[in-house]
Amino acid sequence: GKVAVMFGGVSAEREVSLRSGNAVLTALLDAGVDAVAFDPQTQSLASLADLGAQRVFIVLHGRGGEDGTMQGALQQLGLPYTGSGVLGSALAMDKIRCKWLFQAQKLPTAPFAVVHSNDTDFAGLLATLGGKVMVKPANEGSSIGMSAASTAAELEQAIRAALKYDSEILVERWINGREFTVAILNGQVLPVVEMRTPRAFYDYEAKYQANSTEYLCPAPLSAEQTAAMQDTALKAFNAVGASGWGRVDIMLDQSGQHFLLEVNTVPGMTEKSLVPMAAKAAGLSFSQLVLAILTQTQG
Ligand code: DAL
Ligand code: MG
Repeated sequence: GKVAVMFGGVSAEREVSLRSGNAVLTALLDAGVDAVAFDPQTQSLASLADLGAQRVFIVLHGRGGEDGTMQGALQQLGLPYTGSGVLGSALAMDKIRCKWLFQAQKLPTAPFAVVHSNDTDFAGLLATLGGKVMVKPANEGSSIGMSAASTAAELEQAIRAALKYDSEILVERWINGREFTVAILNGQVLPVVEMRTPRAFYDYEAKYQANSTEYLCPAPLSAEQTAAMQDTALKAFNAVGASGWGRVDIMLDQSGQHFLLEVNTVPGMTEKSLVPMAAKAAGLSFSQLVLAILTQTQG
């Protein structure tokens, strides 16, 4: 049946989604799949039926697309869709509730605090969390609204910046180390990717604009470290109730301990993105990856 490829949308990650979605749509069309673009920013869900769509490939990042709301709407419309269902999508979008789940499952994640606009003890918070922190809006992606802080004044400013995107803020102990990601495809973990940036962290610019970001896949890790990271990633993915495909981001500190950052249920799918890179290392072309994701629809 005809596939509506949903991309664009209304979140702060719209531009990324446009890139991901165009790559997916092109790959589907090249593979001979009857596919059509659908942008929820300009098209109403009612028009999905007029398009003759029988299933949906979701390439929306962030709120309104990756957070369970679209998944619920499609379920009500009786349209199967790719990736995680309502619960997995909603939980994975919320970095704070994800971390509570990781803790409950005894999965490694950095110490953290939850901050709201009325919290003012920045110095106390910083001391509690070890002197340097990463500040994140609870429900964003692509590092939007994130900044690092190592003084009370910086922390106040970082929280203020994050509050532009969300009313709930995650303040996490800074992990001094290397950043990795593990893609999951239909129950299998893919080779680990390491991201290296000369910037303060792997931020929006390092992800999408800078030429200075280096990617290593398979990541230069021992077999044991690789297996441990993949095991943690798969457990985290399952803990939040995610399914189909996704990507779990992890830090490795200088003592060799790793820490979960978060689960992405609709990770970037531009030709240069991390999941396609990991798939390639596993012998899957971009087009084979897209078709593999499409085989696992639900709803
Ligand atoms: N949120 C972005 C799209 C990612 O995880 O790749
Ligand atoms: Mg994310």
